[in-house]
Amino acid sequence: MKITVIGAGYVGLVTASCFADLGNEVICVEKIESKIEKLRKGISPIYEPGLDIILKRNIENKRISFTLNMTEGINFSDIIFFCVGTPQGDDGKADLSQIEEASRQIAENLTSYKLIIEKSTVPVNTHQWIKKTILRYAKNNVEFDVASNPEFLREGSAIKDFLEPDRIVVGTESNKARNLFRELYKPFTDQDRILIFTTPATAELIKHASNSFLSLKISYINMVSDLCEKVGADVSMVAEGMGLDKRIGRSFLNAGIGYGGSCFPKDVKAFIKMAKDNGVDFSILEESEKVNKNRRVKFIEKIENILWINKDKNITIWGLSFKPNTDDIREAPSIDIVKQLNSAGANLRLYDPEAAENFKNIFPESDKLRYFSDMYGALEDSDALIILTEWEHFISANLEKIKNTMKLPIIIDGRNIFDESLVESYGFEYYSIGR
Ligand code: UDX
Repeated sequence: MKITVIGAGYVGLVTASCFADLGNEVICVEKIESKIEKLRKGISPIYEPGLDIILKRNIENKRISFTLNMTEGINFSDIIFFCVGTPQGDDGKADLSQIEEASRQIAENLTSYKLIIEKSTVPVNTHQWIKKTILRYAKNNVEFDVASNPEFLREGSAIKDFLEPDRIVVGTESNKARNLFRELYKPFTDQDRILIFTTPATAELIKHASNSFLSLKISYINMVSDLCEKVGADVSMVAEGMGLDKRIGRSFLNAGIGYGGSCFPKDVKAFIKMAKDNGVDFSILEESEKVNKNRRVKFIEKIENILWINKDKNITIWGLSFKPNTDDIREAPSIDIVKQLNSAGANLRLYDPEAAENFKNIFPESDKLRYFSDMYGALEDSDALIILTEWEHFISANLEKIKNTMKLPIIIDGRNIFDESLVESYGFEYYSIGR
């Protein structure tokens, strides 16, 4: 099928590349010129494992193309995916200006049937606004449909999450749209993947409810980990014991310094705002948000309780991205923690396999804040190692080498990546979360 994807960000690029890889002909509309030049050379502007390969393969076989021109994109196919950013406004409301702009441009170019699909995460009933906007600005009354098809992609595993979805959710009231979706997702249903149809509002809500529930799970185990520290229990084992109950499940029960990223914080705020605007009490989610914000404060207190004075201390930080296998630092706990240690006057030595360049935009290099391209080099003469992201590189690090490189063998682990007894057998002072 022919497909148009508007927006070549984390969601748009994965959606466009994977649909092309499945045999469709895809055009991707992007408004940033520098991104387009990179994309046409098969260079992904974002770090997403496996994306470069899929991109290059489908540029070579001419299944994917990129354009700055929205009209060209709109006229290319009957199926148009909205994958534009819906960043969070100051009041917690999602900023839908890019959705509105694209809707207007579709209206101005509407000459034949179009299926407009919300893939970006949008507040419930945004589909009504898209429909109203197109009806208002359309020059002639050509038939079109607006549907919701939310993405459930995790950064760092987005290709896998796209190609092996637990479920595909489609919200539409049109039979014509339903048939188009059945054709589009046939490669998935042929593999017995689940495709469910519902109304657009329900589909939009499924996305917010799922993300908010996952963030609730994380705040729940983090709340329990605080009690574990007080009573000497082991939160990893609590999560193990809980997770064996199939109704609970082990995933998203890793205690640590809390969640970050461009989705959970934004989606939870938007969900709470949506409920409030409809007079519904979502205080459980407000509490969960508070628990998550407090993780960073508690972790900084933990560092101060362990190191006493941070001023002029050589402190190494491993992990700047909000999670492993991404270069994304949006809402990452590392931002608050580095800010605090930096203002306390510590000599910071930062290392991250992918996210250092992005981090430099917030924290430029200085004599008190240095970036290292080698994780062990960052440990030289260090009084403490603080781990903020559970990159595989750190989990499989050489403990002997760490110990021999540091000035003092102190590890403060914000993601519980090490086995306590093993680390302590090497002579480290080891501190983690809830254990
Ligand atoms: C999330 C949802 O998982 C995905 O379905 C949705 O489409 C987009 O938002 P993402 O934000 O990319 O994906 O990453 P995810 O793996 O969900 O982690 C989010 C945050 O939670 C990270 O900061 C991670 O460190 C944290 N986390 C995750 C925990 O603190 N504990 C856990 O057990 C799991």
